[in-house]
Amino acid sequence: MNTAEELMGLAPVVPVVVLDDADAAAPLARALAAGGLPVIEVTLRTPAALDAIARIAAEVPDAVVGAGTVVRPADAERSAAAGARFLVSPGCTPSLRGAMAATGLPFLPGVATASEAIALLEDGVTAMKFFPAEAAGGVPYLKALGGPLPGVRFCPTGGVSPANAAAYLALPNVGCVGGSWLTPPDAVRAGDWDAVRALAEEAAALRPVV
Ligand code: 3PG
Repeated sequence: MNTAEELMGLAPVVPVVVLDDADAAAPLARALAAGGLPVIEVTLRTPAALDAIARIAAEVPDAVVGAGTVVRPADAERSAAAGARFLVSPGCTPSLRGAMAATGLPFLPGVATASEAIALLEDGVTAMKFFPAEAAGGVPYLKALGGPLPGVRFCPTGGVSPANAAAYLALPNVGCVGGSWLTPPDAVRAGDWDAVRALAEEAAALRPVV
């Protein structure tokens, strides 16, 4: 996996994970990968995040772990050093794009408008996160962006759920979707990896529904 396009082809759903306890990282990643979702985004929203990324990278060879909530240029380098294999940001600026590109890792910069997508296209970026997907306009909005911007492939995230994921996946400009529903905080706290695996299996079986 060398490009963001290839990354989006690895699984239909990317679990977006918030981890308070790095000890949970490896068993959680094993459960997700065993359920058919090997691509895992660990958000940099907790002090444990970088350690969690490192643990998954070192201990779960079946997983492809990346860093999410990359919002400062320094986050990109720190994530790469921890072992992240891709980077995701909720929005983008030229300096953040430059820092993500400088790591050499595939990255999905966040956009919510045509202008933001065009700015990235000017820099040669064609794979993006669409965030916050539901709040920004959902499936109809993303479908409309596909008219003038057919060369952009999106990973919608933010409000995506089992109820709407298949409709996003049916859009020609969607490569995969992201969401936090695969890792309910209660299940993670309790170490209920069977529950996480079952949620992953359901999500991995999702097929586009027009
Ligand atoms: C993200 O962190 O990228 C999204 O906010 C996850 O959104 P969700 O919790 O609505 O799935």
